[in-house]
Amino acid sequence: MIIAVDGPAASGKGTIARALARHFGLPHMDTGLLYRAVALQLFRWGGDPGNEFEALRACHELGVDPADPELRTETVSKFASAVSAYPSVRTALLERQQEFAGQPGGAVLDGRDIGTVIAPQADAKLFVTASPEVRAARRHQELVGRGMAAHLADVLNDIRARDARDASRETAPLRQADDAILLDTSGLDVNAAIAEAIRLVEERLALP
Ligand code: CDP
Ligand code: CDP
Repeated sequence: MIIAVDGPAASGKGTIARALARHFGLPHMDTGLLYRAVALQLFRWGGDPGNEFEALRACHELGVDPADPELRTETVSKFASAVSAYPSVRTALLERQQEFAGQPGGAVLDGRDIGTVIAPQADAKLFVTASPEVRAARRHQELVGRGMAAHLADVLNDIRARDARDASRETAPLRQADDAILLDTSGLDVNAAIAEAIRLVEERLALP
């Protein structure tokens, strides 16, 4: 069983994907972390996200700890959005995502293109969204909670810019798959969003 969870920045897709994985007893992959790792590698080299060759080299020489807190900074978010637009970078990261999705028993993956590119055959697809203002408030709270300096207006601008770039790129843009269920979490707290996601997926899986 494959469950695909896609959506824009801070929509709550990671929280929902982790909860679905726990509920159904499946392994979970946060695919955004792969792009963030490439971005952080490039950043540490002092590389240029405008240079596709350097970004691709970062894919092949990844030396980033997946638990590194720097993966979550806004600078790395911006770098990740830039490097993820390169078709060569997406191709370099494709196989490990598809292998994860195809493991016996199945998996839950979250990102931008799981339902459209990585696992179009997924048994259930959610497209998680929320208003930009709600998402910015969530991301701002997260950054402050981690002791990082952040202004709400800057976080909102960054989120809008990243959404626009992710949705307008030619390769694997952020978009809702035709057969994905839309879940707007703007008015839902974490527990309500998780409960609704589980209900929607169970309903979808019960269909003939
Ligand atoms: O958590 P948040 O939504 O802020 O970001 P993320 O999921 O960690 O993804 C960071 C960036 O990686 C996104 O802005 C996308 O540009 C890129 N990404 C992608 O292109 N495809 C994916 N499947 C996952 C992330
Ligand atoms: O993975 P993505 O960037 O889409 O979002 P996330 O990391 O799951 O959630 C971003 C933040 O919003 C986290 O701090 C969540 O606890 C919070 N959140 C929330 O306040 N309400 C929700 N319905 C979902 C997430």
